[in-house]
Amino acid sequence: MTLDPVLAQIDADLPDALDRLMDLLRIPSISTDPAFKADCDRAADWLVEDLKSIGVDAAKRPTPGHPMVVGHIDGPGPHVLFYGHYDVQPVDPLTLWDRDPFDPQIEDTPAGKVIRGRGSSDDKGQLMTFVEACRAWKTVHGALPCKITFFFEGEEESGSPSLVPFMKENADELKSDMALICDTALFDSRVPAITTMLRGMLGEELTIKAASKDLHSGFFGGVAANPIRVLSNVIASLHDDTGRITVPGFYDGVPELSNSLRAQWDGLGFDAERFLSGVDLSVPTGEEGRSPLEMIWSRPTCEVNGIWGGYTGDGFKTVIPAEAHAKISFRLVGDQDPHVIRESFRKMVEEQLPEDCDVEWHAHGASKAGQFDTEYPFYEAARGALSDEWPDTAAYIGCGGSIPIAGHFQNLLGTPPVLIGFGKDDDQIHSPNEKYDLESYHKGTRSWARVLAALQEIG
Ligand code: BES
Ligand code: ZN
Repeated sequence: MTLDPVLAQIDADLPDALDRLMDLLRIPSISTDPAFKADCDRAADWLVEDLKSIGVDAAKRPTPGHPMVVGHIDGPGPHVLFYGHYDVQPVDPLTLWDRDPFDPQIEDTPAGKVIRGRGSSDDKGQLMTFVEACRAWKTVHGALPCKITFFFEGEEESGSPSLVPFMKENADELKSDMALICDTALFDSRVPAITTMLRGMLGEELTIKAASKDLHSGFFGGVAANPIRVLSNVIASLHDDTGRITVPGFYDGVPELSNSLRAQWDGLGFDAERFLSGVDLSVPTGEEGRSPLEMIWSRPTCEVNGIWGGYTGDGFKTVIPAEAHAKISFRLVGDQDPHVIRESFRKMVEEQLPEDCDVEWHAHGASKAGQFDTEYPFYEAARGALSDEWPDTAAYIGCGGSIPIAGHFQNLLGTPPVLIGFGKDDDQIHSPNEKYDLESYHKGTRSWARVLAALQEIG
């Protein structure tokens, strides 16, 4: 089965492939918000139908949360699992969008055409690059070059609560020679890349409580404990003056970058100034003495993702609130243990609470960092295929984000993950005005067609 006619088919079919992606993008599958449960279901149905249209034996598979989509199609090459997620992040603040997030459009920008809409890059556009590559193989040759299992999740953006039980229950069906994951980015927006390191994640939500009700700050100010002030002190105590995190034991299991990896990363020529200027920043913050790339890929972080309490409406209200809230996440690297850090963080906060104050905890996910072995022959095969499609040779890179399923493939199924994605740094994933470059969609699809050909060849 030859590759060239498949690539030509992808080029010719691009307008229809775009229409299909637009259809999927119009479904507001926001997994974290129960109001969109039916839409998540509809996105799963849409994918099942689309897979069936290319001859895949696909079905929606129930879970206690949003459904999975699993499909199988036979082929001569190795057994490849492909993973992507059809759920998307919430869109708020809606006022910062230039258009309806679920009415996607192709826009002309100075940097080229982009597909604008929630989920265009994370992860519906990425997921469809693989489906479209398979469609082209099927159209041209009537068959796929590899045996493929499709595995689409609808809860990735909300902590994947159903994932591990589902993987355990269906382990025999999902076990494959490798797991291709399309949920990452190109390097520095230009260079094709295989991500071999991911950070882990620990999410914590806390509510600090003091008086049993909101109080007038004239009657009680100065005397009554103010939970927002207590919370502010707690948050201020989480970093020292050099940017290091102060949670006891936090750095246990954080390795120093090896000289060889440091040299490899230096060789990538990451342009931190360009990276920051893309979001109108100029000065890297963070730990003293660490390079920006090192901080994103191989150092742990602690960030406040949300904070609220008291009166935040229009006008002004002189109130001492009864409660203050924050959502705090830690990105983890190396061997850091999210459960040990959770305990240590909670203890540190509880020890700082003044008399009359209490804290309530809500846990939001805990995953370890991942590091993936590139010794398998399919890594070099995929790297060669990507290098054939793009102007630059593909690089092995790290990633500051978290994709816990990559570790689960490795640890639960013994299936090595291969992370290839075509997102760009300026895609604004999780933010207003998310976009996916038309180039990412088109060349991403062509890249997968080439990767499948290369995998068939190595057998
Ligand atoms: N696609 C992202 C992961 C990602 C982020 C890749 C940045 C490349 C660059 C994924 O959908 C995601 O956002 N994951 C969450 C996981 C979390 C909820 C456990 C993340 O990283 O915050
Ligand atoms: Zn994603």
